Amino acid sequence: MAKQVKITETIIRDAHQSLIATRMTTDEMLEILPELDKVGYHSLEAWGGATFDSCLRFLNEDPWQRLRTIKDHVKNTPLQMLFRGQNILGYRHYADDVVEYFVQKCVANGMDIIRIFDALNDPRNLKTAINATKKEKGHVQGCVCYTTGPVFTNEYFAKYAKQLEEMGADSICIKDMAGLLKPYDAYDLVTAIKSIVKIPVQLHTHYTTGIASMTILKAIEAGVDVVDCALSPLALGTSQPATEPLVATLQGTPYDTGIDLAQLDKIAKHFDGLREKYLASGLLDPKVLKVNVNALMYQVPGGMLSNLLSQLKQAGASDKLEACLEEVPRVREAAGYPPLVTPTSQIVGTQAVFNVLFGEYKNVTKEFRGMVKGEYGRTPVDIDPEFVKKIIGDEKQITCRPADNIKPELETLKSKLGARAHQEEDVLSYALFDQVAMKFFDKRDEGETIAAAVANAADAKYNVNIHEVK
Ligand code: CO
Repeated sequence: MAKQVKITETIIRDAHQSLIATRMTTDEMLEILPELDKVGYHSLEAWGGATFDSCLRFLNEDPWQRLRTIKDHVKNTPLQMLFRGQNILGYRHYADDVVEYFVQKCVANGMDIIRIFDALNDPRNLKTAINATKKEKGHVQGCVCYTTGPVFTNEYFAKYAKQLEEMGADSICIKDMAGLLKPYDAYDLVTAIKSIVKIPVQLHTHYTTGIASMTILKAIEAGVDVVDCALSPLALGTSQPATEPLVATLQGTPYDTGIDLAQLDKIAKHFDGLREKYLASGLLDPKVLKVNVNALMYQVPGGMLSNLLSQLKQAGASDKLEACLEEVPRVREAAGYPPLVTPTSQIVGTQAVFNVLFGEYKNVTKEFRGMVKGEYGRTPVDIDPEFVKKIIGDEKQITCRPADNIKPELETLKSKLGARAHQEEDVLSYALFDQVAMKFFDKRDEGETIAAAVANAADAKYNVNIHEVK
């Protein structure tokens, strides 16, 4: 039953998203891409998640050009991306036509594997993205968002994984955003999922709580097919477990990855240089590399914990952290046990803070009301009707798939963007990050104007030279 384990390398997506706020530029990764391509990874996670937003907002880069550039330099290894279901790579639900067009353009520009998840594990929010990926002949990886709580049994996760398989997923990802999946639980969870689905199972976790390398090893023993790792210069801490130690651990065992450590070392040297640079500039804060024991104790993601702390600090109530952490499970129970991942972790966390500061549900945030109303989709457990009434009053709960209430929006977006578009993909950048995308387009136009002027000047000079020769 033991078999070769495959690795997805995350260093040019999740690793730098987790450690340095997604600030690695295309230039910084460019020269090493052909070497990454030679390793023999199952896939290279290269795009999606927060990279799209970061390219436009902070790096003045066209995310679509980044994808094409990576594809040009990575000819053999499948490229992989993270896709937030009906949210695409943005922060609200989009109409189906935008989701479909986005997927179409991802595949057309070189994407091979699309990892799709929904914060509530509501399969209806994955449906359009799954169908669109199948239509484009991409590989659909359906995610089971891992979280803890009384309803999140192995049966719950296995049943959800089966549902994703039936919807057309080509593989399943156990997505543990917060590093909460403990080694022996991972063994049981992988066993439960593998016993019910036929497609490959992959594990994605984070090193935040210090247990991830033990967790992937137990998952491997339970038969997991692929694990996510990051090369050591940008591994550990809030990132993934490191690639090289896992490769070394499995050498000479039936799980042997067949990957050459010397090749990994060659690549790691490139990223070592970047690591030094990020540390020197302060972009990489050594704090994120420390084991977060609190996240393990309170079973909340590290990011949520720091949000709670900063909200309480602002309110001058830092002494209320314990009370808030005790309130979080109560809020989750009342709200139908949403998994704690963006955006639900912020929604639950803020409501817990408000309950502690102002009294139970005396002050309800717009987002919490929206979640109870069903604007984000169906929660893992139905919410008690009395609680629904208490929060939304006489408003009607949304029970259909939220995107069913969104009219097609692609044509409107296209006409709004008009001549600003330089490529078909621009309308998608605009759909997701309107003002941010516009600012990027402005800078691009300015840049191109300058480039054109320089080119014209060069031409003029060239002509002068020709005349001189004459
Ligand atoms: Co991740």
